[in-house]
Amino acid sequence: MANIVLGVSSGIAAYKSVDLMRTLQRAEHDVRVVMTKNATRFVGPETFAALSGHPVGIDVFGQEFEPGFDHLDFARFADAILICPASANTIAALAAGFADGLLTTTALAFDGPLVVAPAMNTKMWQHPATQANLTTLAGRGAHIVPPAVGLLADGDVGPGRLPEIEVIVDELERTVAADRPLRGVSILITAGGTREPIDAVRYVGNRSSGKMAWALADEASRRGADVTVVAANVDLPRRPDIVYVDTPTAHEMLIACRAYHRDADIVIMAAAVADYRPVIAVAGKIDKSQADALEIPLERTADILVELSAHRRPGQLLVGFAAEAGAAGLVRARAKRERKAVDLVVYNDISAPGIGFGSDENSVTIIGPGEREEILARAPKRDCARRVLDAALAIFDPGRTAPPS
Ligand code: CTP
Repeated sequence: MANIVLGVSSGIAAYKSVDLMRTLQRAEHDVRVVMTKNATRFVGPETFAALSGHPVGIDVFGQEFEPGFDHLDFARFADAILICPASANTIAALAAGFADGLLTTTALAFDGPLVVAPAMNTKMWQHPATQANLTTLAGRGAHIVPPAVGLLADGDVGPGRLPEIEVIVDELERTVAADRPLRGVSILITAGGTREPIDAVRYVGNRSSGKMAWALADEASRRGADVTVVAANVDLPRRPDIVYVDTPTAHEMLIACRAYHRDADIVIMAAAVADYRPVIAVAGKIDKSQADALEIPLERTADILVELSAHRRPGQLLVGFAAEAGAAGLVRARAKRERKAVDLVVYNDISAPGIGFGSDENSVTIIGPGEREEILARAPKRDCARRVLDAALAIFDPGRTAPPS
């Protein structure tokens, strides 16, 4: 299943998109609809809203300027965009790169697979301008579903009819599958920051939000991997196609990782695991009237990554993270790769302002085998996630038996 944005532009064939949406839903895709203003003359947005279970996007500024609406939300949600029917006007706007409505804005802000199913009058279809626009779109990687030939709503006979729904769905599913090279690959990702209880209400914790791990999980899932996320205290939206296991403490995370790592082809340890925990978690709440000062003895937690590394199965790839500061931190991160015997270490410089913990952006250095290092300048965490996955896949070899060099 995938997250599909169904873009409906104007044309009599717009009514067929209702059936198309239902077919996509039956195939377990999550569909959200964006309509051009003119398309709403053919089908009421309420129809799509009621059947999809999601608000329909029409205006760049949101329905009646609803607060919290972001004009890029649809692009962020989409694994693929299907425009059906695609009018000559929408095709021209897409080819020219216009962002003159929510549908064109969504398409422009999206760099994943785009499927376009044109439907229009035969002469409009055959016009060199339309054909040139389609050639431009195809040249950029869009998948065009050619219209069927037959009697059109305006009485003409020729190409321009929307093809059968099954033909369009088939093209969309092929496109989504081709964009999913990780089908059959199983990935375990740890996320968030563990909290080690001091008493029933207090804990020793850290500032990890889980955003980087979430971006990795979303991207891996979007590429077709079977993803399990072992999450410590992460409050972010969850995808239905990812398995989430909540483990608030380091010990619970260790137990979950022991259980899940055996099936994983790739393990990405992105969680900030507490290195120490209170020796005793006090039952109930510590009463501050009992003492002016408090000493809390701490003990080391197990290093999960080291344990997984010691029990790695042949071909399994391990990625660790290192949150350190500055140039000295980079040296420590390199040493961590050796010490923990992992394939890649992703170094986060926590001293750089405005990135890292809680932020939507990150800047990382990916440390690989043979002194291979890739420095990623400040970028959204989704982009960092893509590069980390690319780096992992570049050295992923399921048949490998030797540990990392
Ligand atoms: N890690 C882990 N278990 C722990 C601590 C850390 O699995 N108890 C993992 C983290 O998820 C991360 C990597 O080890 O992938 C590095 O974590 P970090 O806390 O930066 O490193 P430490 O091992 O604590 O480093 P050092 O001993 O140098 O402080």
